[in-house]
Amino acid sequence: MHRTTVQTPGPATPSLLWPGKAARVPLSDREATLCDVYGYGEELGRLFRGDSFDMLSWLLNHGYAGTVDLVYIDPPFGGGSLYSRKVQFRGVDSDLVIQVPAYQDLWSDADYMQFMYERLVLLHRVLSETGSLYLHVDTAQAHYLKVLCDEVFGRENFQREIVWRIGWVSGYKSQAKNWIRNHDTILFYSKDPAHFYFDKQYAPYAAGYKRRGEGKKGKGHPLEDTWNCSDQDKLDSIQIKSFSHEKTGYPTQKNEQILERIIRSSSPEGGLVLDCFLGSGTTAAVARKMSRRWLAADVSPAAVHTSRVRLLTEGLGQLSSGFATYDFESATQTPTAEVAIERKSNKLDISIKSFQSPVLAEAASRQHGREGIDWRSTVDCVLVDLNFNGQAFRMDFADLPQAQLTVKGVYGPRTSGRVAVKIIDLLGNEVLVAE
Ligand SMILES: C[S@@+](CC[C@H](N)C(=O)[O-])C[C@H]1O[C@@H](n2cnc3c(N)ncnc32)[C@H](O)[C@@H]1O
Repeated sequence: MHRTTVQTPGPATPSLLWPGKAARVPLSDREATLCDVYGYGEELGRLFRGDSFDMLSWLLNHGYAGTVDLVYIDPPFGGGSLYSRKVQFRGVDSDLVIQVPAYQDLWSDADYMQFMYERLVLLHRVLSETGSLYLHVDTAQAHYLKVLCDEVFGRENFQREIVWRIGWVSGYKSQAKNWIRNHDTILFYSKDPAHFYFDKQYAPYAAGYKRRGEGKKGKGHPLEDTWNCSDQDKLDSIQIKSFSHEKTGYPTQKNEQILERIIRSSSPEGGLVLDCFLGSGTTAAVARKMSRRWLAADVSPAAVHTSRVRLLTEGLGQLSSGFATYDFESATQTPTAEVAIERKSNKLDISIKSFQSPVLAEAASRQHGREGIDWRSTVDCVLVDLNFNGQAFRMDFADLPQAQLTVKGVYGPRTSGRVAVKIIDLLGNEVLVAE
């Protein structure tokens, strides 16, 4: 029998195609501006306000190629949702609750694939030779992104598909005439299958558990790639809990416990962790608690502010591990303020006379017909720099009230330096007033 071989076109590894796929990914050359510095210790974290693509390009343009030990990302899922959150005013206007957009997740399939492809290519380049990527997705995108990651990382670097069971769901989610959807997928890739860092994790043995002939010796049950699926491995989503002290109110916030597990297993102490879809700040907060350095970004000012407050309140008083914020965006919704700063020798009288947040005033008027809001009701916090250098703002103290309390608005610090006051509204929009 005569046989012929037909040469098929295309790459050896199957890959995804979408309309307009551009395989070349030129870096952006946007520069980041250093805005704020928090804490006096070594700068262990960098928080970028801007697009993840600009942040990753900036890192690659500034010597970070091959330096990151661990990437965790929980990007938008391309699910066609418009995520919003509720914002409650403070003080005398605390009866007012407005609904504001948090972020949009509205894409065509092709745009979403191109968006993820470009970022995965750059993430692969920032990872070190022993580094890993964890990509948190839902079932709608998991299989497309698996093929995309195979293309970018190489199939040999696919390590595990982790199935995270969300926990017992109730309400409308449990009404589906179908199997109840109850898990997210986390794709785990290495940069090099022979050298990736991994510290195996264990769940404690159940009470009364006996290993045959040995009793209860050993480290526990090695964790599997199905999480929150047994009595030994409890990890219910904070989204289905009515109360969790972790909750920031940011939609789609993930549990610290997930990040603890990933960071402990896949980065050494002192290592560098990156999340360029930071949301409420979970990765940065956990990396800091676990003595890792971190790089983070989010395009939404509300996310960056939620993360900043989270890092400040959890570390206030022991700001030995400092962090800095950088900006790619030029602010478009800047509030205005009038601040009187009077100096009697080294003693200062700082008094906020007025503050106007156009976005909050407009939302209160449109959603509730309410005018003449007290300025204190719209302010989340006031930060003060006692030695402002005219460029980066370095926080010396913060008026960061809890829950529905309002900022004081008058302060009497001592300094001979130049004073700058940063006032931040409930949405994370800010104004800086300097002497
Ligand atoms: C699912 S949330 C992340 C939640 C986060 N893991 C947490 O625990 O809070 C996705 C985040 O990606 C951000 N985002 C969307 N597009 C972005 C982009 N192009 N660059 C940076 N961040 C982006 C959104 O603002 C949102 O905060």
